[in-house]
Amino acid sequence: MDLGVDFGTTRSLSAVADRGNYPVVGLTDDLGDAHDWFPSVVALASGRLVHGFAALVAAEHGAPSVRSFKRAMASPEFGPDTLMRLGPAEFPVVMVIESHLRALRDALATAGADPARATNTVIAVPAHAHGAQRFWTLECFRRAGFDVTAMMNEPSAAGFEYTHRQPRTISSRRTRLIVYDLGGGTFDASLVSVDGTSHEVLDSLGLNSLGGDDFDGVLAELALTNAGLTAADLGDTDRDQLLIACREAKERLSPQTRRIALDVGTHEVSVRVDDFYAAATPLVEATLEAMSPLLGGLDSATDLSEVAGLYLVGGASGLPLVPRLLRERFGRRVHRSPYPAASTAIGLAIAADRQSGFSINEQLSRGFGVFREGEGGRTLHFDPILERTEHVPQTGERVVVRRYRAAHNLGLFRFVEYAQLDPAGNPRGDVVPFGQILFPFDTDLQGRENDPALHIERRDAGPEIEERYVIDPNGIVTVQITDLDTGYRLEESLS
Ligand SMILES: Nc1ncnc2c1ncn2[C@@H]1O[C@H](COP(=O)(O)OP(=O)(O)OP(=O)(O)O)[C@@H](O)[C@H]1O
Ligand SMILES: [Mg+2]
Repeated sequence: MDLGVDFGTTRSLSAVADRGNYPVVGLTDDLGDAHDWFPSVVALASGRLVHGFAALVAAEHGAPSVRSFKRAMASPEFGPDTLMRLGPAEFPVVMVIESHLRALRDALATAGADPARATNTVIAVPAHAHGAQRFWTLECFRRAGFDVTAMMNEPSAAGFEYTHRQPRTISSRRTRLIVYDLGGGTFDASLVSVDGTSHEVLDSLGLNSLGGDDFDGVLAELALTNAGLTAADLGDTDRDQLLIACREAKERLSPQTRRIALDVGTHEVSVRVDDFYAAATPLVEATLEAMSPLLGGLDSATDLSEVAGLYLVGGASGLPLVPRLLRERFGRRVHRSPYPAASTAIGLAIAADRQSGFSINEQLSRGFGVFREGEGGRTLHFDPILERTEHVPQTGERVVVRRYRAAHNLGLFRFVEYAQLDPAGNPRGDVVPFGQILFPFDTDLQGRENDPALHIERRDAGPEIEERYVIDPNGIVTVQITDLDTGYRLEESLS
């Protein structure tokens, strides 16, 4: 059996490979009802973490619960020590996710798709996930008992699902596909070039903290305003209830719906759908803005003639406003997936299935660079090392090497990952610290680099230094700095 698992902000879906078909695994809740998904909810019941359907039941009985905890990994500060609050207690996010994935593994085993029996298991991360997010997603899956063979970017997997289902729309003239993935907590867009079953990501962009949850928030704000209240007027439980009610109402909207009825605490209010759409339009515009570089700028009459389709996936693209606004811009080439929430999981199962022959050439999606201190620590200079369009190896590793003569006694390297560079060549916006190395170029200081009394000074004729940047097939970077004269080496990685 080959398995694809899409761990989502609101729901996880899994699919298996079955002789060229890729059915979604049906899971059973505590009442015996079947669902295509496992809810991304954790609750604290009798001092124990419970997950998924059991967490929904516990939360209904008043247990403290948290949803959308996958979002915590997108934070630039996220690491193994990051905590999340659950009622009276705090837990490391990675521990909660590992425990959640173990519960998902058990649910899959009960459903007859035991991950322990899978030959290949492929998982996914948002396309613009940073290194720590990639590393810990993989690590949590492994600790939870999944034998992960590969990790892909979510929209790339959705691209597989598209080409598998609609191979004929890709022609020799129209070889490109844009995947627009609006999930519960993230937005990703990828430009994919397709040649038969070979796929290559040409570029990928997104927003790590925009998704369906934000549409629920917009609707909740309108409901509060109509009730003459603010969020501070509601208790935690009423606020959670309101957000849940907003999500359910949003998911039920059809193009014909005019008004949405909601309970705000004890008030009954009604929100006009037109008002909701007007308030939510900036969210959709933010996605268009984020993906505009894929189209060469939205305002220019870009040559879309090579694009076979703009493929809408992710549960939140089910909101009628989303295809409407996209069709206003891009016309008939906008296609909604018949399985917006399952497309990624199906694509992962296609990737796990060696018989499918599907392959992908992925990109890093985030730039990687280093701030170096110069002039005795008085200046800070940014050096971009890996561009976001740098290819990720399908097997083995990809190595980028820099060599130079050191001009200081010590070098302070602060590594960051970034989404964009400003015109001056400095990272801007979404910048995530990766780690730092204080490297002693002066041989007398080697092994003593942690001495707080040391400071950076200029030196002539320093040793020859090599920086090695190693990218693994999961898009995770490791840095090594070596003094080639003495062989002294320091390394920075996320493990
Ligand atoms: N019919 C619908 N109309 C509007 N929104 C919907 C509909 N169905 C689901 N959603 C929304 O889609 C979102 C979940 O989408 P999806 O299942 O693709 O996300 P996820 O995989 O959990 O998240 P992510 O990919 O961001 O980690 C939720 O915000 C949900 O309310
Ligand atoms: Mg998703």
